Amino acid sequence: MKLLVTGGAGFIGSNFVLYMAEQYPDYEIVNVDALTYAGNLENLKAVEGNPKVRFVKADITKREELEPLFQAGVDVVANFAAESHVDRSILEPDVFVKTNVLGTQTLLELSKQYGVKKFVQVSTDEVYGTLGETGLFTEETPLAANSPYSASKAGADLLVRAYHETFGLPVNITRCSNNYGPFQFPEKLIPLMIQNALQDKPLPVYGDGLNVRDWLYVEDHCSAIDLVIHKGVNGEVYNVGGRNERNNLQVVRTILQELGKPESLIQFVKDRLGHDRRYAIDADKIRHELGWTPKHDYESGIRETIRWYLDNEQWMKDVLSGAYQQYFDTQYGER
Ligand code: NAD
Ligand code: DAU
Repeated sequence: MKLLVTGGAGFIGSNFVLYMAEQYPDYEIVNVDALTYAGNLENLKAVEGNPKVRFVKADITKREELEPLFQAGVDVVANFAAESHVDRSILEPDVFVKTNVLGTQTLLELSKQYGVKKFVQVSTDEVYGTLGETGLFTEETPLAANSPYSASKAGADLLVRAYHETFGLPVNITRCSNNYGPFQFPEKLIPLMIQNALQDKPLPVYGDGLNVRDWLYVEDHCSAIDLVIHKGVNGEVYNVGGRNERNNLQVVRTILQELGKPESLIQFVKDRLGHDRRYAIDADKIRHELGWTPKHDYESGIRETIRWYLDNEQWMKDVLSGAYQQYFDTQYGER
């Protein structure tokens, strides 16, 4: 089995590469990443020297960089590569459309041309828009993306669907809720708040802090994608989530308690534009049809995650200083 993982130097993609290398030591894994600010090869130290895992610096929007990899043979594509941060999409939407929409289409086209056996698009619950106080997103919930980020992911999802309907490409789409765990870039809520609290800096909570997210430990997302690759019915969408709804203030207070820091560090700031109020996933389909069960409960998972950031101070220092961006040059030669 030859698996092409895109975005495998990012938060979820790197966790996925490590997970798959451990689960399937015989699989050949080609990890393709453009190494934007969010790509960090230090995440992949555990597979350095593993002859089954190869890193290739390439951009998913550039067909000429990808084609040789497809020519060499690919069985499965798992597309994690994306611009992923909502706040950045509000400031600079263009690159989101380019990477998330055009990049996905480039991969789909090559997958069609070279007869890939499965294309898994790693999408997000944000394509469904926002919920009120009750209800859950199911796979039938209409797409109603509200941010440039989620609109670009929804556009990609529709292209994936179109390549299945029009060309018969064997595809699946997964739509997962918010992930947390090791190697998350500290622009996202949990690592940002941990970092600020450790430095006694203010913790910027948007709006009233009562927006709700449905948190899932990253390894449970990886196991869901693994199942979809192996058992997913072509053309189907699978929602992924652990039914761990928490509002942002609850998350931030847990971090402060764990780190022994005062709540006075919380600072309410201007709300995010178009800020979705609540996400919550109904994951019954993947549970019942593919037998997925998440292993981590939120209360212990969040504590383990805080502990990971405390134990991996150097990783965070390298990210904050930008030193992680030199890692490619030292390990793999000049960029
Ligand atoms: P991330 O920002 O940490 O990582 C994205 C990776 O993609 C980086 O390594 C980056 O270098 C790479 N990349 C960006 N543009 C590229 C390009 N043009 N060509 C090749 N590589 C490129 O993101 P993440 O949080 O790990 O999210 C991964 C995927 O999962 C995304 O598709 C995202 O939409 C989806 N997702 C994320 C979450 C979450 O909670 N973080 C939840 C559901 C779905
Ligand atoms: O739901 C899945 C999505 O989760 C993924 O598709 C995205 O790639 C991922 O970034 C994440 O999006 P969110 O916008 O939910 O995550 P973020 O960590 O940016 O914010 C989580 C919540 O915390 C959100 O309600 C905004 C709030 N927030 C965030 C930051 C960075 C704050 O209050 N203060 C902050 O400084």
